[in-house]
Amino acid sequence: MSELNKIAVKIISNGKGILAADESNATMTKRLEVVNINSTPDNRLSFREILFSSEEMKDCIGGVILYDETINQTASSGKSIPDLISSSGAVPGIKVDTGAKNLANSPEEKITEGLDGLRDRLKKYYALGARFTKWRGVYSISEKYPSELAISCNAHALARYSALVQESGMVPIVEPEVLMDGNHSADVCLSKTSEVIKKCFDELILHKVDLSGIILKPNMILAGNKSKNKISNEEVSLKTLECLKNCVPNEVPGIAFLSGGQSEIEATENLNLINKNNNTNFIMTYSYGRALQQSALKVWSKNIKDIETTQNTFNHRAKMCTLAAQGKWSSELENK
Ligand code: G3H
Repeated sequence: MSELNKIAVKIISNGKGILAADESNATMTKRLEVVNINSTPDNRLSFREILFSSEEMKDCIGGVILYDETINQTASSGKSIPDLISSSGAVPGIKVDTGAKNLANSPEEKITEGLDGLRDRLKKYYALGARFTKWRGVYSISEKYPSELAISCNAHALARYSALVQESGMVPIVEPEVLMDGNHSADVCLSKTSEVIKKCFDELILHKVDLSGIILKPNMILAGNKSKNKISNEEVSLKTLECLKNCVPNEVPGIAFLSGGQSEIEATENLNLINKNNNTNFIMTYSYGRALQQSALKVWSKNIKDIETTQNTFNHRAKMCTLAAQGKWSSELENK
């Protein structure tokens, strides 16, 4: 096993998943405004520190993705944030893209930026304790989109990013997110997501990326959020497995799904069924942002001094997701 493979496997084994706490300041401000909290560096840190010090970090969370601001912050105990995360046994990670911008010559689509100067930024993040990274390519579905141009240039960027990250001794999370916005059917999501993922692997292979040292972070296969033809959770799991079985090379150790706007319960139930029906060799787990944090954030916003209730809420969500990552979740356990 290569060193990179060992890190990847450590992050996602035994039902552990990833806490995606890498919202940019702009995104975190939106999340905090919804619950009427001022988005200051201190408030952003307070909420995140409460999550990172929760009990279930030890048993459920194998990795935490941070944003540049947070990886440079210090916890109230005086520990650095990466040290706080490592002390629970989880691996600190960092988002290294600089965001999705309009794609020239197809301005309704996005290209993710951040390759310039990346090699030097990676050195800095490694020195701060990061051992894995994230880069998100984003694609929307409509009659014309995603275009061949968007599919091709985002795959190219993901591959160049991955090669640089592995060169720096870290594991790249490769995140091609096909958004759920729109009225498309689940079958259209299946065919577009398959096209996107296949192209990513073509480019990763071209760029000689060690596939045993990456984690894929895809969307699940869902009907668009405005579609009248929703499919059952069982069908979501089967179509998601079909897509990954056909598009992901066997060397990849694992897949950690994004929640992408699904509710906490939906994201948990779908992951559970994916694991129950898993007919692949891939570890299937979670790398959730909203689906791990939403309820905890609501509770915290009611009384930002109530650390205990906030942590209990997060602990429950993390436990449910970890059960789902082993196909052991049930609605009875959810509501116990
Ligand atoms: O890039 C997306 C995040 O890391 C995952 O967030 O689970 O809220 O979609 P989400």
